[in-house]
Amino acid sequence: MAVTTTDRGSWNSKLGFILAAAGSAVGLGNIWAFPTKVATEGGAAYLLIYLLCTFAIGFPVMAAEITIGRRSGKNPVGAFRAISDNKFFPLVGLWGVVCGVMILSFYTVIAGWAFGFAFEEIFYFFGWSAAADWLTDTGNGLKNAIIAAVFMFGTIKIITGGVSDGIERATKAMMPLLIGIIVIMIVYVLMQPGSSEGVRAYLLPDFSKINAGLIFSAMGQAFFSLSLGMGALITYGSYLNKKENIPQAAAFVTLADVGIAFLAGLLIVPAMYLAQSQGINISAGGSLASSTDLVFQILPALFHTIGGGVGMLLGVTFFLLLSIAALTSTISLLEVPVSYVIDEFGVKRKKAAWSVGGGIFVISALVAFFPVMIGWFDYLFSSIGLPLGGFLICLFVGYFWKTENAINEMEYGFAGIKQTLFVKVWPVFIKYICPAAILYNLITNFI
Ligand code: PHE
Repeated sequence: MAVTTTDRGSWNSKLGFILAAAGSAVGLGNIWAFPTKVATEGGAAYLLIYLLCTFAIGFPVMAAEITIGRRSGKNPVGAFRAISDNKFFPLVGLWGVVCGVMILSFYTVIAGWAFGFAFEEIFYFFGWSAAADWLTDTGNGLKNAIIAAVFMFGTIKIITGGVSDGIERATKAMMPLLIGIIVIMIVYVLMQPGSSEGVRAYLLPDFSKINAGLIFSAMGQAFFSLSLGMGALITYGSYLNKKENIPQAAAFVTLADVGIAFLAGLLIVPAMYLAQSQGINISAGGSLASSTDLVFQILPALFHTIGGGVGMLLGVTFFLLLSIAALTSTISLLEVPVSYVIDEFGVKRKKAAWSVGGGIFVISALVAFFPVMIGWFDYLFSSIGLPLGGFLICLFVGYFWKTENAINEMEYGFAGIKQTLFVKVWPVFIKYICPAAILYNLITNFI
């Protein structure tokens, strides 16, 4: 297996791993999808259910994924094969690779919109309205495809740099920038009169809205936002040093993801109400606008209403924020199929990245011309695919590999883990609570 090990790589530091994993987690899911879901699906009631899903289901599954990855040192397909001789589970890994490919195919189109809007704000400022209109036309297939291609190109370039010199270096530079931008923008928005109604809408719970649909939506959102259920964290975990503490790293990543989603909500929901106070229509057919309308219509309208240099600066910064968040996620989405091709077929990293990325772009181009496909793919591969993958990962660790063996692997970087509460609680979640909750949710969604 000499060929297959040379192109694998590893993280340079613990912080590098945490930032890369947090970069994977923090993405369009946090800044584009989460805030609107909170605003439209019950405010703080949604937030509460989301937090419950994140900590009770997401965190245990994340620790499980990272442990499988580090134990095996392999991509999701090879990982299951390396740990157990059960013939079924490598297929679970393969399903993860498929989900990664399909999610990436539509993700780059949305990311491309965001990237295009950053330039739109500049063109608008200088009065180049033809160019600005071209960039805001989310239905323009050719334009969508061109910008998605640019985005995919950037993602491939970073991946070809390898784990520490590519992924780790890029995310280490981008994550602090992302946090800086978001904090500055929140301060600006909350200082504006008219934003307090939005803060109230965001933080006051409407418990009457809690139902099976909301819980299903919050669970899917938690899986998507934490990058779980498709082996992204198996892959990232496979580059992790034995001396690192897995439960602690998983906790950091979970907290970073939830924290940034919360901040994004605090930025965007008030901004939406600010837009309303400026006379911009924020509802579509009686209910609040969807995430696409919110981020790609209402916010630009708000930036244009503010106008001048300030409006432009806010617009450019916001869409750069969204693009950076998306890029650190597309890296991880592409790394999953790339690591699969490197490990299983002995292909060199460069070649693997260009061919896999290029292949996925063909699907992206299709989505670019027919954006309705975003909804279909998102439902099939994110809302159903990821929780399904998470469910099967729980079954694997709980009943095939066994939680004791997983704990033994965690012990390398966490001496004394067997004397902690974690060793008692985590297996219960992996064996019973998480799979039962996921299955219940998947079933109630269908009936
Ligand atoms: N977590 C990313 C987001 O919130 C999306 C993602 C899902 C990335 C699955 C990798 C794997 O946008």
